[in-house]
Amino acid sequence: MRKLIAAMKTSTDAKMGGSEGYADWVEAWSDDYGLMTQIDACLLGAGMYPEYERYWTTIQNEPEKPAWITGSPPTPAEIEWARFAAQTPHYVLSSTLKSALWPRTRFVRGLDEVAALKRQPGKDIYLVGGARTTASLIDAGLVDELRLIVYPLIAGKGQALFATTERRHGLELRKVQQMPGGRLSLIYGIG
Ligand SMILES: NC(=O)c1ccc[n+]([C@@H]2O[C@H](COP(=O)([O-])OP(=O)(O)OC[C@H]3O[C@@H](n4cnc5c(N)ncnc54)[C@H](OP(=O)(O)O)[C@@H]3O)[C@@H](O)[C@H]2O)c1
Repeated sequence: MRKLIAAMKTSTDAKMGGSEGYADWVEAWSDDYGLMTQIDACLLGAGMYPEYERYWTTIQNEPEKPAWITGSPPTPAEIEWARFAAQTPHYVLSSTLKSALWPRTRFVRGLDEVAALKRQPGKDIYLVGGARTTASLIDAGLVDELRLIVYPLIAGKGQALFATTERRHGLELRKVQQMPGGRLSLIYGIG
């Protein structure tokens, strides 16, 4: 069965974004989790999909322009992800969204469809976020691995990654790696 791997960049107090509504401490939204060779599909919640689509479309079309959120021109690794994302099927968990700009985007309407996606043949699936979707999929037992890049910062007010998680989940620490800038890469298996 394909693994569903949730991967996010959080503050040390596990915030997905600050009071402005996004993680302004993230300097680049590149694949720093080492997922690109391992996955062939992405899964996202309806809350974040429209902005995600806009962000990566702009980087693909205007790679010289400062990117929204980071305010800097995209890094080579972000441009690489923009190209990868454009060719990779994206699945959006939503009961309300009906259309997307990207031709490879499809909608999944509930947890059964996510489970069915995992049973299809293929590489692993990257759960991009957001917070509520990740929490509901962890509670449903559908997330196999959690990869966090933890920034050395207490964000304070903001959206917490596990704010809507309803149950306790044991984690198995699989890998810890110190990254530049005081960031920490953590890989956990979820039982
Ligand atoms: N720091 C990071 O690495 C990172 C990564 C990703 C996202 N983010 C941030 O996360 C925020 C978005 O997170 P969010 O929690 O607001 O929204 P979200 O998780 O992206 O989307 C929530 C929506 O997804 C759908 N959904 C979720 N679970 C479902 C289920 N079990 N069954 C059916 N539909 C389900 C529902 O949409 P419907 O109402 O259409 O049914 C729900 O309203 C953004 O601010 C983004 O910047 C941060």
